[in-house]
Amino acid sequence: MRIQKRISLTVNGQTYQVLVDPKTSLLDFLRKELGLTGAKNGCDGKGICGACTVIVNGRAVKSCLIRLGEIDGAEIVTIEGLARESQLHPLQAAFIEAGAIQCGFCTPGMIMAAKALLDINPNPNKKEIARALQGNLCRCTGYVKIIQAVEKAAAAVREGRNIFPSFIPKDAVEKVTGRFQFLDDLPCPDALIAKVVWAAYPHAYVRRIDVTKAKEVSGVVKVLTAHDVPGQNAYGLIIEDQPVLCSERVRYLGDPVALVIAENAQAAEKAAALVEVEYEPLPAIFEVDTALDPNAPKLFPGGNIACKFALKRGNPEIAFSQAALVVEGTFNTQCVEHGYLEPEAGIAEWKDDQLILRSACQYPQAVKSQLAKVLGIPKEKIRVIAHPTGGAFGGKTDISIQALLALAAWHTKRKVKLTLTRAESLKATVKRHPMRLEYKMGFDKDGCILAVKAKILANVGAYQTLSIPVLHQTTAFATGPYRVPNIDIETIGVFTNTPPSSAMRGFGIPQPTFAVESLIDEAARRLGISPIEIRRRNALRPGDESPTGAKMGSDTHLLETLNAIEEEYYKLKMEKLEPDMGIGIACGYKNIGLGLGEEDYAEAQIEILPSGRVCLRTGAVELGQGVVTVLAQIAAHELGVPYELVDVIWGDTDLAPDARETNASRQTVVSGNAVMLAAQKLRHLALEKARQYGLEPPLSYQNGIVIDRNGHQISIFELAKASKLSATGRYLAPSTMPLYSNIPLSKEYKNYFTFSFFTNLALVKVERNTGQVQVVKIVSAYDVGRAINRVAVEGQLEGGAVMGMGYALSEEYIAYGESITDNLAKCGLPRALSTPEVVIKLIEPADSLGPYGAKGVGEVAMVAVAPAITNAIYDAVGIRIRSLPVKPSKLKKALSSQEKEVK
Ligand code: FES
Ligand code: FES
Repeated sequence: MRIQKRISLTVNGQTYQVLVDPKTSLLDFLRKELGLTGAKNGCDGKGICGACTVIVNGRAVKSCLIRLGEIDGAEIVTIEGLARESQLHPLQAAFIEAGAIQCGFCTPGMIMAAKALLDINPNPNKKEIARALQGNLCRCTGYVKIIQAVEKAAAAVREGRNIFPSFIPKDAVEKVTGRFQFLDDLPCPDALIAKVVWAAYPHAYVRRIDVTKAKEVSGVVKVLTAHDVPGQNAYGLIIEDQPVLCSERVRYLGDPVALVIAENAQAAEKAAALVEVEYEPLPAIFEVDTALDPNAPKLFPGGNIACKFALKRGNPEIAFSQAALVVEGTFNTQCVEHGYLEPEAGIAEWKDDQLILRSACQYPQAVKSQLAKVLGIPKEKIRVIAHPTGGAFGGKTDISIQALLALAAWHTKRKVKLTLTRAESLKATVKRHPMRLEYKMGFDKDGCILAVKAKILANVGAYQTLSIPVLHQTTAFATGPYRVPNIDIETIGVFTNTPPSSAMRGFGIPQPTFAVESLIDEAARRLGISPIEIRRRNALRPGDESPTGAKMGSDTHLLETLNAIEEEYYKLKMEKLEPDMGIGIACGYKNIGLGLGEEDYAEAQIEILPSGRVCLRTGAVELGQGVVTVLAQIAAHELGVPYELVDVIWGDTDLAPDARETNASRQTVVSGNAVMLAAQKLRHLALEKARQYGLEPPLSYQNGIVIDRNGHQISIFELAKASKLSATGRYLAPSTMPLYSNIPLSKEYKNYFTFSFFTNLALVKVERNTGQVQVVKIVSAYDVGRAINRVAVEGQLEGGAVMGMGYALSEEYIAYGESITDNLAKCGLPRALSTPEVVIKLIEPADSLGPYGAKGVGEVAMVAVAPAITNAIYDAVGIRIRSLPVKPSKLKKALSSQEKEVK
């Protein structure tokens, strides 16, 4: 029998007398009973993420850890209670002003933790702020702008003034007030709840599934297995090899074998535990070497090789024989969890003979196509609505829960909700490819690269997902942003029984960049050339032949990024650094757009509404990177109307056009150009309509108003009252081609239509006793073409810098063994106290093909940070890092045994 207790609580000034189970968590009470969903659950209520932070009796607490029985009579303030009527609290306004919000999932918790700090310390320094926020994870911002925002708010509070943000990104007010609803925040009282039964083994035959007992649980509506998939029981963005529900074989622990749908979560959970599955376990393969053993079990009928790519130019063997210096090494990069704070959630319903599915995703049209096959119904009967995401970083490009939800709605013809726990999300969703990279580089005596040879083995995991394009790209970028006349690269993707590897920020480039930038650093030292100079001598310049055989465009700006860092580098070199401090440099480049032969297009529609507002429809998806704001800025600028008048409808397959996937840092360029084209068409249309209205040519267009020769004027909103005023822009990026090896290539041959270039500098301090590395400063110069929204661009680059630091030092996803990664704390995500000083230098030549010359920045930001840090570690203590992450234990061991490498 459940014990109930009467408890009194005051929440945001209102007192509640409630009869509750005293073990109920405060978070559940706030979210489920009071509907205050500003506090979020990012870690299964384990006290790891801080997204649930509220203030109880003046102290910031993680509400998931507080039981109601412990706080009878307490005063509670949540994010919803912070703003006074329409006036934002200075912290809320400062978060907007400083650009401290990206996806917004962490924002309410961050603000409440900061509020509790300012209440007791109105003048905190950076360290005190970071300490107060140490329990709150943010995966997007890298904490830099969050700390700045708290400083700004503290000053305003001390001076008794308000902050009025000069620019408000779309949804920013909703995010700082807790009104912004992520999927799991949507009230859904009538929805059925789905629960997945996952594989019990990483590799096994499924011999029998018995759902009899599960079906008998009161409240259970359906228990689905593979036999209930009406269409094709397989999906995949490139190759459809991943089952919706497994019937014969499971290939990793994240394979679903059954789906329970019930009236409530308790019944769903109870029934899921009663689904009986009989397995015949098979030897599980976790590492690529084991998978490549000729005696290894075949994970697919075609064997264990998922894909292969090669890039060959010139004759590397002859070049090596003539080289003044050859450096080589084997590098290992780890599997990494995306670490978005919002676990996967979705709602599907069957309404008016149509499936409506709402969930966070990066390419709703692709989800729609895959669901049509799974259900065996025409695409027209499916509407996918991409819901705002609490972070994605590439990890929400593939289907995760969408096919299960579609199946549930199809069978029940009711609304069904499915939210993964953090543990389920970690187990089932895609990761970054771990790779082993065997590299050899040859240089002449002046440090010019003569040849690069590499063999790259990538762990693809259990299914293909996006491994083919990711590893294609790994191959294309395997020699770094340099002139390399002789190349021999081989990349092999290998199936194993680990979670599938797929897209993650950088899309296959951070791994080879780590290897190349480590070896070029080693070559510089051995040849006695500065790390800046050796890169300058090899840097790709406009008109050069790229490593893949294409001609580099005039918007090739690696040299400018090196120049921008140079002064800082020599300044630090001249300073007398403390012992065990070091400086490292690394360069990189990253494609903007899909490239490699993919058709890269986007559509946008603009409609002028008689109400005086502008409706922009785009297929670009908001992931927290700010694309919706940037597209609204472009539309406003082109139409000459205030940005505040532009409303954006995005990511809904029924209401918005197709813009392909939101990754590859492409939407600012591709959708941005589509918006410009639509706006230009719309201006012409307005002139035409004005003529019909009696205005006399010549007509001109200014700030949303058409003016005729006599000075008569009519606004676009007036014109829209007479008849519909809308236009569609479609932008098709220049065509590209896949990689070809050692064949004559035409002048037009190109693999990508543009790139962003960058140089990172890291200053580190190594603690010899512990092996701990403190990153003191990161200075990065990025060729962004043109920053349309400077604050948002900086935010992306700072967030990327800290993500790159995590990749270098702490992040690792372990798929098997004793210390399997089953909670967010084990992912090693950086926290506020480890935030270095981050300096971003923007190179803005504005000569690229994006709107106003802009390039994208979302993915480029973390690509070359890790090697800058590992090169700095070498500079500090003389130990070459060959394997990521550089956890303290590894470095300490090398330091104490005087090894020269961490392998
Ligand atoms: Fe409370 Fe994560 S939900 S700390
Ligand atoms: Fe902090 Fe996204 S803004 S997690």
